[in-house]
Amino acid sequence: MGCFVIHFYIFVNTHRNLIMSETASFTLDGNKFEFPVITGTENEKAIDISKLRDQSGYITLDPGFKNTGATKSAITFLDGEKGILKYRGYKIEDLAEKSTFLEVAYLLIFGNLPSKEVLEQFRTDIKKQMMVHEDMKMFFSGFPSKSHPMGQLSCLVGALSAFYPESLNPNQSEEEEYKTIINLLGKMPTIVSWIQKKSLGHPVVYPKKDLGYIDNFMNMIFGEVNCDKIFDEAVLDAMRILLILHADHEQNCSTSTVRIVGSSNANLYASVSAGINALWGPLHGGANQAVIEMLEDIKNDGGDVEKYLAKAKDKNDPFRLMGFGHRVYKNFDPRAKIIKKACDDVLEKLGVEDPVLDIAKGLEKAALSDQYFIDRKLYPNVDFYSGIIYRALGFKSDMFTVLFALGRLPGWIAQWKEMRDNKEPIGRPRQVYTGETDRTYPDDTQR
Ligand code: CMC
Repeated sequence: MGCFVIHFYIFVNTHRNLIMSETASFTLDGNKFEFPVITGTENEKAIDISKLRDQSGYITLDPGFKNTGATKSAITFLDGEKGILKYRGYKIEDLAEKSTFLEVAYLLIFGNLPSKEVLEQFRTDIKKQMMVHEDMKMFFSGFPSKSHPMGQLSCLVGALSAFYPESLNPNQSEEEEYKTIINLLGKMPTIVSWIQKKSLGHPVVYPKKDLGYIDNFMNMIFGEVNCDKIFDEAVLDAMRILLILHADHEQNCSTSTVRIVGSSNANLYASVSAGINALWGPLHGGANQAVIEMLEDIKNDGGDVEKYLAKAKDKNDPFRLMGFGHRVYKNFDPRAKIIKKACDDVLEKLGVEDPVLDIAKGLEKAALSDQYFIDRKLYPNVDFYSGIIYRALGFKSDMFTVLFALGRLPGWIAQWKEMRDNKEPIGRPRQVYTGETDRTYPDDTQR
């Protein structure tokens, strides 16, 4: 059997001012190959291997894309080792404290915080698009009564493309693209509220002209046709914080999905609908529902957190501690820190005593001092406490991931738009084939 010896060594020419002169090289079968090193604005380094196959015949293999940068992006920066998250250069802590959700949406999509006038126009434009075509209600008569809200959401968002066929044009002008973006931002809260109302068999509540984005959404969810609901400031503020914290998170599973679907020139509704499906899984956005269900199970099983920690550590048990661990954060998730505080605040202000909060805190404490979790750098993530807040606000647990999607929408739109503005090529990874090679086609008697 032949044997390859592959030497891989990298040297970097450190001409600080001449970033383009940095190169990485490696030797393969006695041939030396050289590739540019790309340096990001936060000093992140990447080797640009886009010419690797042309030059060497080799591809790289990286299941789960743990080391693969799929794009250059100017939207969100995160440093998983230091627990830093910034949107367009602004710290998440500052945005969560000072911004409205629509300000953050504008920032992510268009790159800068809007002036007062621009923000007002953006709000007005969105508000005008909050009504949803009445025919969309027909979909609900086709959904079985127990269908999951995420399946309904992806279907309804994808269906918007049928109602707005002009969005199918991949060469939309900037003005037309803006209309599509505004349309989706406006209709998403209404669609989410319809899903909630239809699941209860209640009539839908329409958006109101005199309400803002979040209070309109909350009124459509919790208000009645004949009676608006007035919310405590603490409730609206908790929603604002949660939506902002979820608004973008660079190249995660659902965002990569949106970008890759959009890279085929698929329209925004179709791309976001695909992102919603990717978010649904319990390893991604679906974790917020899974966390509450796990905490409930622990409570109903006597509250023994050690028993569940042991299950999470047992490699023969498929159980994982939901809401723990993250592909990128290996120190702490800055969003989880903010959410934990918001959770304490909102529960106190609403006077809610939720026994699962004590279980969550006990579980977190035990896990953080357990060697298994310490060695693997597993910390509570954004989903660990968010469900407890959603529950205190009155949402059903199967709506939690839909709320994540509502928050993530501006990020998906921003990433889709950036991908198009940069004219990125269609996403099409390669593979290493491991199947059968040449087989003789058998006749019926040989099968
Ligand atoms: N409970 C127990 N063990 C875990 C957990 C967990 N939650 N997460 C990771 N591990 C272990 C894993 O078994 C592996 O151990 P070993 O090295 O002995 O084989 C090690 O830690 C590394 O895990 P991994 O699965 O290779 O890490 P990953 O980067 O591929 O997965 C993750 C990241 C988020 C999918 C994973 O941590 C997980 O499944 N967490 C629970 C689900 C969850 O909370 N998801 C929400 C993520 S944050 C919201 C979002 O943006 O999606």
